[in-house]
Amino acid sequence: MSSDTTGTDAATPAAGASPPPAPAPAKPANPNGPTEETVLDVEHYTDRLFRFRITRPMSFRFRSGEFVMIGLLKEDGKPLLRAYSVASPAWDEELEFYSIKVPDGPLTSRLCNIQPGDKVLLARKPTGTLVLDALLPGKRLYMFSTGTGFAPFASLVRDPDTYERYDEVIVTHTCRELAELTYSRNLVDSLINDPLVGEMVQGKLRLYTSVTREAHEHQGRITDLIESGKLFTDLGVPPIDPETDRAMICGSMEMIQDTKALMIKAGLTEGSNAAPAQFVIEKAFAG
Ligand code: A2P
Repeated sequence: MSSDTTGTDAATPAAGASPPPAPAPAKPANPNGPTEETVLDVEHYTDRLFRFRITRPMSFRFRSGEFVMIGLLKEDGKPLLRAYSVASPAWDEELEFYSIKVPDGPLTSRLCNIQPGDKVLLARKPTGTLVLDALLPGKRLYMFSTGTGFAPFASLVRDPDTYERYDEVIVTHTCRELAELTYSRNLVDSLINDPLVGEMVQGKLRLYTSVTREAHEHQGRITDLIESGKLFTDLGVPPIDPETDRAMICGSMEMIQDTKALMIKAGLTEGSNAAPAQFVIEKAFAG
């Protein structure tokens, strides 16, 4: 629902009628405030997960993997914003987001009801460290994710730059249950027909999924699969090597810390935009 209630249709004044009263001065737009975007598409995967697409203003620039504050207007007219990774790539004309639904979450409990045509607030300044520029060149790129932590990687796997920089791209996605892998699996499956990266992903991109609370081909937390070496055996690749391998990590705070510790143990150093290195971490929470 738009906050703009001043634009309702006014009847055209009849000829000879006295001039209409001067319109109330428009509220000055905050040049740094969020813009109001239109919901284009919504897809629900489970009772905990959904994805949506919104319009992208011409002025909105970001690097694949970054996050931005988005949200809704509260009943008091003030914005309620949370950090969300942009799940679409930098070249896309629309913006995509992948979200959890928290029943008592102030934002997601309302956001999960949005329909095409509704309005969503979008902050103007994206940021983040899960970007290719924060990593030193390497041969193999790992993207480790759990839950909605897959979102920034949904952006990066659709960006040609990822394949120009790496010979091999391995994305891992771990969830509690199989149904929670639908978004990542559908997305990666669809890339083969993508006009931009379809040819680049062939033989280069691999999605490794595991679940922790249901039977699946691969079971267990990603941290356990790294520690035991099962991940590398399953993939047929050598263990992580700081000479050749780079990593990005996105999930819950605990998952990030635990996976980060394993990267450090493997000899990788943490990078940032200012000082690119061998792995980067980030989290984008929504509540
Ligand atoms: P588990 O089922 O063993 O808790 P969530 O939905 O809670 O964010 O969890 C998403 C996935 O991340 C689950 O499979 C969960 O496994 C896993 N996970 C939770 N904490 C960690 C952690 N510290 N390290 C690695 N994986 C984790």
